[in-house]
Amino acid sequence: MSQLDKDIISMRDLSKDQVTGILERARYMDERLKARDPPRSLAGRMIASLFFEPSTRTRLSFETAAKCMGGMVTGFSSPKGTSVEKGETLSDTVRTVEQYADAIVMRHPFEGAARLASEAVSIPVVNGGDGSNQHPTQTLLDLYTIWKHKGTFDLKVALVGDLKHARTTRSLAYALGMFGADIALVAPKGLEMSTEVVDEVRQQWGTNITHAHDPATSLGDVDAAYVVRIQKERFADPLELKRLQRSYRITKDTLASLKSDAIIMHPLPRVDEVETSVDQSDHAVYFDQAYNGVPVRMAVLEMLINGGDA
Ligand code: CP
Repeated sequence: MSQLDKDIISMRDLSKDQVTGILERARYMDERLKARDPPRSLAGRMIASLFFEPSTRTRLSFETAAKCMGGMVTGFSSPKGTSVEKGETLSDTVRTVEQYADAIVMRHPFEGAARLASEAVSIPVVNGGDGSNQHPTQTLLDLYTIWKHKGTFDLKVALVGDLKHARTTRSLAYALGMFGADIALVAPKGLEMSTEVVDEVRQQWGTNITHAHDPATSLGDVDAAYVVRIQKERFADPLELKRLQRSYRITKDTLASLKSDAIIMHPLPRVDEVETSVDQSDHAVYFDQAYNGVPVRMAVLEMLINGGDA
């Protein structure tokens, strides 16, 4: 096991040992949460939660994680009403927040914003999503969810949907490669994952990666299907968005084609790409996945702020 570095900006910053350490600590946190006895390891510590873009799960699960461990939370859920509106730079904002807090969790619409912030301050910075780039703690909770439900990463995992824009699938493809899973990329034409990301995963980990376009006919041999919504906020061309909306959908009929023990995951929010009737199925684990954000983020905050081996 090895210690975490100062920040978590990208999955590329984490070794397999470090990720394994986080997953194991998350499992411990999960047990302590279930026993309603979380460790108070952030007592007296302040977490700054700076969200320049909308969020429900990431912001609230980080804040829940901090408070469960006795920590305090400050911050904002939108730049509206902050001095960003007066033209303050990101660097000056985080250097100011550093005076008040022991760690920063941030989401920002621009790729590279979290890295820039981390270089401006000496306290830990956790990237809660930067544009279409990275969302590493989502990936950690996704890995934890797979491990919890399947007990192994010796699996075939399908990434389904808008793989062109979804940052969660970029981070997850890299992490699945790290842990030796096979990957099926299932994206409508025009929404495929960039060849740059696919090539990197193949070259880095030697991952077996296949391509398909239609989830109705492509999920029969997978152990997990990870579905993402159309990322409408990332489309420059509204006509292209209109053309691709509703171009894929997981339905009760799709479930009939799955292996009996396959799981369906989704980082949420969902729009209409997974029918609500699927929620009742044993395949659907996406609300447990949302819960898993709390123990995983407890582990991350504790390790970054208090140190200790991952
Ligand atoms: N999964 C996820 O990042 O959700 P939010 O956008 O609600 O934080």
